Amino acid sequence: MIRLPDRFDVVIIGGGPAGYATALYGAAAGLSIALVEKDKVGGTCLHRGCIPAKEFLETASMYRAVASAPEFGISTGPVSLTFSRSAERKRRVIDQLHGGLQGLLKRRKVVTFSGTGSLGADRTVAVTGPDGTVTRLAGRWVVLASGSVPRSIPGFDFDGRFILSSDDVLGWEKLPASAAVIGGGAIGCEFASMMSDLGTQVTILEALPALLTGCDREVADVVTRSFSKRGITVATGVTVTGHSPKGGVRTTVSFTSPPSPAPPGTPSVSPAPPGDSEEITVEAVVVSVGRRPLSEGLVSADSGVEISEKGYVKVGETMETTAPGVFAVGDLVDTPQLAHVGFAEAIVAVKTMLGESVVPVDYGRVPWCIYTHPEVAFAGLTEDAAVAAGYKVITHKTRFAGNSRAMIVGETDGMVKIVAEAGQGGSAGRVLGVHMVGPWVTEQLGAGYLSVNWEALPAEVAAFIQPHPTLSESFGEAMLALTGRSLHG
Ligand code: NAI
Repeated sequence: MIRLPDRFDVVIIGGGPAGYATALYGAAAGLSIALVEKDKVGGTCLHRGCIPAKEFLETASMYRAVASAPEFGISTGPVSLTFSRSAERKRRVIDQLHGGLQGLLKRRKVVTFSGTGSLGADRTVAVTGPDGTVTRLAGRWVVLASGSVPRSIPGFDFDGRFILSSDDVLGWEKLPASAAVIGGGAIGCEFASMMSDLGTQVTILEALPALLTGCDREVADVVTRSFSKRGITVATGVTVTGHSPKGGVRTTVSFTSPPSPAPPGTPSVSPAPPGDSEEITVEAVVVSVGRRPLSEGLVSADSGVEISEKGYVKVGETMETTAPGVFAVGDLVDTPQLAHVGFAEAIVAVKTMLGESVVPVDYGRVPWCIYTHPEVAFAGLTEDAAVAAGYKVITHKTRFAGNSRAMIVGETDGMVKIVAEAGQGGSAGRVLGVHMVGPWVTEQLGAGYLSVNWEALPAEVAAFIQPHPTLSESFGEAMLALTGRSLHG
């Protein structure tokens, strides 16, 4: 029988990207690690988020490619979809990654405990197993990484039938014929793009005046225009009010649109007139209005860990909570809810435990990738945010329409937009933001991300050669144009 240490160097609650990254990085530094997970290691990202979503989006991409094959002289016959096969492939990809992760944890001698962890006083963690037995673990350090769950809105409680969360969608074996997507952020737009490409009639209902409001306005416009061209109905500025099932297979969603603009010269009325009431009847309603931290029951009152009103665990820049020796990482803290941000936070936490110097995560400059068609990728300030922050900016856009590889691939929609600080005499100062929309931009952001975080000057970046013909030439062209002279763009 293997005797487990009574006390581990690190006890981690939650085996998603932030938790398992803490375990792997900590173990690589020689720390003894206990990882507590109530479901499967890999968390939302692997089982109910990034990985399954991108698999479905890849199916959409493949479908588009096959449908456009005749353009390349390739005859395919009628293109059809068996979505359950895509779901099966998705499961295989997940299983393979899950197996790989379990093997990695085992090789690093991370001890995993199956159950729900809860932090008490003095960095002790009670683990309640599936059979109700409680195991107590003590850690020199404890890391909270219990993640987040989809948020719902009044009148739209998840029922797994009509009102669906991202978890439900990613478990689909069959696509609905019609769907309303409430919330046009990253998740809503990715799902809308995927469903529409695979034949679902999609309507997006977004409360704010535009889709993808965290993105640069001109980038979001490219996606919105593409959506409209592909038959997705985009309703912005709406308030959804409720839904009522109809005939067992569909439900009617009610919402109000902003009032139609008054004809010019009409005196304004106060209060503003009510919006137009509208309805839409669909087979599925996907609610994608954000995710909330999963912090209920996670810590006892005497743990010393403070939780904000919104449920986030409060941390400083080293990811340490208000309780010394207790850290929190990932979606549980109020930082961008991205797996790669969780990885970075895990490294910061472990280095802090080891007493090493750390570079805190610069949240304003993390990479963002949205896998809609067309894809979006960016890092740093948008033009509007830079102006609002008081910068004098200079921008340049190079469109993929003039890029030879984009023409060869057959995807010329989109651009690379650089936002730089205005330098002396109209020259460009340091790069503040790089914003991309178009073919494979999620794979091209690396250079943009480095430019922003190195605070490079466009002239410095432009001196690096981009291979020809590649999509990445548009990035190089945009930087070159900001030096005052350009080749093609
Ligand atoms: P989000 O915060 O990105 O977008 C939610 C959208 O819903 C916003 O546009 C908001 O205005 C809208 N909304 C809120 N309440 C509404 C209402 N009552 N009616 C209509 N619209 C409403 O959240 P989302 O898309 O659910 O994603 C959650 C998190 O997951 C994000 O923070 C994102 O960081 C992460 N994520 C990132 C992805 C990526 O980078 N590729 C993909 C998926 C998720």
